Parts: sequence; structure tokens; C-alpha cells
Amino acid sequence: MKITIAEAKLPTSGALVVGVLKGGKLLATGKALDKASKGAISKAIKASRFEGDKGQWLDVLAPAGVGADRVLLGGLGDGKKVDQMAVENFGGTTWQRLGNCGLKSIAIVYDPIPGAKVELDMGAAAIAYGARLASYRFDKYRTTLKAKDKPSVTALSVLVEGPAAARKHFKALDAVAGGVFMTRDLVSEPANVLYPDSMAQQCKTLSKLDVKVEVLGEARMAKLGMGSLLGVGQGSPRESRMVVMSWQGAGAKAQPVAFVGKGVTFDTGGISLKPGPGMEMMKWDMGGAGTVVGLMKALAGRKAKVNAIGVVGLVENMPDGNAQRPGDIVTSMSGQTIEVLNTDAEGRLVLADVLWYTQKRFKPQFMVNLATLTGAMIIALGHENAGMFSNNDKLAQQLHDAGQDVGEGVWRMPLSTAYDKKLNCAIADMKNIGGRDAGSITAAQFLQRFVNKVPWAHLDIAGVAWADRGKPTVPKGGVGWGVRLLDRLVAKHYEDGK
Ligand code: BES
Ligand code: MN
Ligand code: ZN
Repeated sequence: MKITIAEAKLPTSGALVVGVLKGGKLLATGKALDKASKGAISKAIKASRFEGDKGQWLDVLAPAGVGADRVLLGGLGDGKKVDQMAVENFGGTTWQRLGNCGLKSIAIVYDPIPGAKVELDMGAAAIAYGARLASYRFDKYRTTLKAKDKPSVTALSVLVEGPAAARKHFKALDAVAGGVFMTRDLVSEPANVLYPDSMAQQCKTLSKLDVKVEVLGEARMAKLGMGSLLGVGQGSPRESRMVVMSWQGAGAKAQPVAFVGKGVTFDTGGISLKPGPGMEMMKWDMGGAGTVVGLMKALAGRKAKVNAIGVVGLVENMPDGNAQRPGDIVTSMSGQTIEVLNTDAEGRLVLADVLWYTQKRFKPQFMVNLATLTGAMIIALGHENAGMFSNNDKLAQQLHDAGQDVGEGVWRMPLSTAYDKKLNCAIADMKNIGGRDAGSITAAQFLQRFVNKVPWAHLDIAGVAWADRGKPTVPKGGVGWGVRLLDRLVAKHYEDGK
């Protein structure tokens, strides 16, 4: 879909969208439309329960005296509470309501809102961004969709006074949306199409944006001593991969920030086989890696002034004659040995080596990893927040706040030696499970055993990587969770001059 930001000149056809404040209070364009239609707009408001509350919408079809074929009134509620997220969601919901309405174009007017918490330029850009995020579809395997099942709208414009500044904001936001879309695509792809090597090929496409991409195969990882990661992929005929992506947007000497992702392209559980029902969900067990790839695309796409490293460990966890067995002992790159008591606790085994490798090679300012690590995380926090575990209060606070900014919440969970002890083992340096209790925490403790002094946070995204129910800017399916949050973290605190 083509999205533009243009001067406030009303269209002569298509759908026209205007915001309305609490109490049914029309803004400048709404008033003009009401006048041109000889009161049809205010009459429509009176003939319904529409009061301009947030989340209320009212369709006015074919009002006489107005060029547009239909006018959609969107409630904004209290104007003083309108912030960036509110307008973004306004743009997203507009798309959801009108994207397939039969018309070809949508124009959303963004009139100044007195006392709003978002500036006019940023507000207009955020509306366009919200519509973009909402317009995502994963249709590539739908060969029999009829035209009426697909969006009719091919062009959307946001109309605002002095559009140049808004256009500039939107350009950066649109690059982030490009990253989010890539993550959604990766997460949605089935495991017969997306497996370690094909996902590595997807990473390679980032070189078009000047991201340096290195792909390491099993032989090189074996040389590095990554016995923990390699053990997980051992039961799959698909070779494991590790991909290192680097974006150099700051000076050559600037210390990088690093992002690490769990990329289990399918998790059967291995010999500790998962039950059948719902196993198809484990195609998105590469969600953490997917977010890291999308984030690198976003950062490079908007030319962020930062040196960023993204490293993903890509494996398929399958049971076959060569698969790792419960009780096997593997040696990780760190030298620590692990008794694999449950082959389904595989994400931590992958991350152990990738985290170690990343901190050793890049000595980053901080390291954030993302992983669909534990089902217990969903039990604890549901689908509203990701779990956050960190050894550093400042980083934890920054992540929390960035999440609030973009509507991707993280909730901090505890770490302590008492939990860590549950991983102690009689026959090796540790076991890979800590028992049923506090399952997400013991998983995080396991990861921490592979992190030295570097500020680090682990985001357990098991509950947020996939959505069974959509939100204004997030259609059902792969969410692309974390791209926006981490982009925001970088933009706020880690770009040159900050
Ligand atoms: N990928 C799963 C966790 C998961 C479950 C993510 C459901 C998203 C939805 C992970 O590899 C796993 O299997 N974890 C086990 C750990 C257990 C064996 C200690 C789990 O959560 O049951
Ligand atoms: Mn598993
Ligand atoms: Zn898994």
C-alpha cells in the first residue's frame, strides 16, 4: 500500500477520516464538512450514540455536499490525553475498518488538537505508521482468495498542515515498520520453508542495507567448541547455523550494542518429545531470532547512528536416531559442561553458546537476548507483557520505559543464587532444567551462567511473539514483538551524541 503525507486539501473521492473529541466536539475539518453537508455530520452524531469517546467510530456514508464517498468519524476522547500511541492506534484502526471497504483510497485528516501530548508533525507521522503496521498481511500461501477478501484500498494519505516535517518522521518510522514486517514474515513461515539455512539466507538479504552478514556452519561452530548449541541440532538433517549481523552506523571505535536471538526453527522437543496438540506453534520458536533480524533491518533502514551486532543461533530440534538423549553431557564454548536432562529445554542450550560467543568477540556495551524460552512465562504473565531478567538496573529501567513508549510491555522478574542453585548437578557443571517451580526463572539463571560482567537482559517472549487476537496495529499471527521496543531503546539512549 502506498502511504503519503500531504498538505491538507480535501479529497474529491474515497474515504475521509476525521477525529472527534469527547462530547462529540468536531475539529476544524469536521466543522467544515458539517457545514458543507448542511449539518449531515452533526445530525449523524445525534442519531447515534457516538460521543467522540476513544474507541468509538461512526460511518457517515455518501453525505451530500462533500467530495468524499464516505466520512468516518473516529473518537479521540479527551484531547489532552491524546499521545503518540493513541494516534498510532487511530491510524491502525482506520485501516482495519476501511482497508477492505471497497473504495480505493483513504485520506485521514490530522487537525491540530489543542493540548495534545504529541506534536502535530509527529502525530501525523504516527497515524501513517499505525496504518502501515496494521496493513500487514501474510497471504503468500492463499491461492484462492477472492478479490473481495483482499484490501481494496491501495493508497492512504495523511493530510496535515506543513507536511514536510511529518514526512521526515514517517521515513524513519516506516523503516522500523519494514523491520517489524520482516520479523512477522519470518515468524509466520512454516518450518518446511524456514529452517536454519534458509533463515540464514534471509539474514543475508540485509547486506543490501549495508549490514555485514557472516554465516557460520556446523564445522566452524564445532571448531569454536559450541557443543551446547550443536547438540540441539544433532537430531535434524538440517544443518545448524549461527548468523552474525553487524551494522556500523557510528564511528569504527564506538563500542557496539548487541542483540542475541533464539532461533529454533522448529521445536519438537527432541527425544523429550512434546505432545501432539498445538505442536504446530513451535514453528515460531525462532521468534527471538526473528526479532533480532527485523531489528537489524530497522536500524540499518533508518541509518541509526549506532554500532549494533545481531547474533542468532539457528537450529531445528528433532528426534531421530542421531538425536541427543536425555542424560547426555555436552561441553559448551565457555568450557562449562551441561547434563541435558530434558531435550525440550533446548533454547537455553542454544543461547548459552551464542551469548558466550557474542560477549567474547564483541565486548558490547550491553547484550539483550530474546527467546520464546519457557511455557511457564505464559503462565506467569499471559500475553500482555514479556518477562525481563537482568543483571543491570539501568538497562532494565531503559528497557521497561522503551516498552511503555511503544506499547510493548516488559515486566521484570527476579534472579538470585537461590534459584541458580536449582541447576546444580552431581555429574556435570549444571543440568539444563531446574524443576517445575519457577521454570522461567531457572531458565534465565541458566543463561546467566554464560554471561560475564556485561550488562545483560533476557526477554522471554513466549507469550508475546504470536497473537491469537489482533490489536489496532498488530494483526493476528506473528507480532514482530520487540523490534519497536529495541529500536526505541537504541534511539533514546545509544545513538551518537546520546
Ligand atoms: N519453545 C519452548 C517454550 C514455549 C512453549 C514457547 C510454548 C512458546 C510457547 C521451549 O523450548 C520449551 O519447550 N520449554 C520447556 C522447558 C521445560 C522442558 C523445562 C517448557 O516450557 O515446557
Ligand atoms: Mn523446547
Ligand atoms: Zn523451544
